[in-house]
Amino acid sequence: MKFNRLSDLIAQDQLQGQRVFIRADLNVPQDAAGNITEDTRVRASVPAIRQALDAGAAVMVTSHLGRPTEGEFKPEDSLAPIAKRLAELLGQPVELRQNWTDGVEVKPGQVVLLENCRVNKGEKKNSDELAQKIAKLCDIYVNDAFGTAHRAEATTHGIAKFAPVACAGPLLAAELDALGKALNQPARPLVAIVAGSKVSSKLTILKALADKVDNLIVGGGIANTFLLASGLKIGKSLAEPDLVEEAKAIIEMMAKRGASVPIPVDVVCAKEFSPTAAAQIKDVGDVADDDLILDIGPKTAATLAAQIGQAGTVVWNGPVGVFEFDQFGEGTKTLALAIANSKAFSIAGGGDTLAAIAKYKITDKIGYISTGGGAFLEFLEGKTLPAVEILLQRAS
Ligand code: 3PG
Repeated sequence: MKFNRLSDLIAQDQLQGQRVFIRADLNVPQDAAGNITEDTRVRASVPAIRQALDAGAAVMVTSHLGRPTEGEFKPEDSLAPIAKRLAELLGQPVELRQNWTDGVEVKPGQVVLLENCRVNKGEKKNSDELAQKIAKLCDIYVNDAFGTAHRAEATTHGIAKFAPVACAGPLLAAELDALGKALNQPARPLVAIVAGSKVSSKLTILKALADKVDNLIVGGGIANTFLLASGLKIGKSLAEPDLVEEAKAIIEMMAKRGASVPIPVDVVCAKEFSPTAAAQIKDVGDVADDDLILDIGPKTAATLAAQIGQAGTVVWNGPVGVFEFDQFGEGTKTLALAIANSKAFSIAGGGDTLAAIAKYKITDKIGYISTGGGAFLEFLEGKTLPAVEILLQRAS
């Protein structure tokens, strides 16, 4: 992918004294009191800001937080907790500015955080009027918000049309490089793990991957729908019977290419969905009418782990069982450790996946962990992300 990179501009010493506007994704989870409960995205946004400051720029940073109503700022929409965390991470003050679209005073070496951009009228509709106004604030626009790259909004897309220079920051560039490496030039075999509760929400991803991957490991409710498609009984388990035909089509599509969707040979069942439910390992053919399948069984996990061990590339989205309850977490744990111990280039993304990676303490053993939720999924679907598309256009 050919887009301008902040690193290139810095190498050409083009930031000295310039006004740089960075769109970051600082949309982080908070507790009821507004404390940040997980700050990965804030930490991931620091390099772009640090690099711009060190290169002599006057730096403005903005992000959305949540989905506020435009034109109606409420205290809970404020980036104030994020300004505080950023200041700690950067080791310098980060002033928070309100009502910033008409002008921002900022000096070289200084960084200011511009309040929640989604409160500005026209942000979500990607209004040209707003985008033009914001573009006038800067000499260089940097998009470093991979997590929001699937949204065409005034600060992710419109501004990139009008700013004198538009480029990708180091986080966005790293995400695109890692995803491109995994999906466009993968070392083979390419194994994808797509799991989660619903086939419907991941159907497009499954179809897009069915065309590319050598093994498509499905888990959770998705796997149950594939079990139904293979003529197996799943008791009371979560599944989408109306998507069985789609699942069959995916199995056939893969088989035609000599690739496969491995169907579990054993599963972990319970009679109820609860943290204290008793787990029972069963052969897949023995699932009773009142059973709930809550994990893959040990034989299946061992087979899949061996496939992961042979892989050249692994793309992981979604836990294969209810790993939040330890007795249904062994499948996810086995695959997680297989990924960690495999020589394959691995890339993982999505909230539940990140929680599993943290639980099994394998963060530093994953090739690349995406900061994107929806953006990661849309990339897997094969879509061109609008915020990236405009950067490609600007570079052509
Ligand atoms: C995310 O959390 O996935 C991104 O910040 C995008 O947020 P959005 O779904 O509200 O656009």
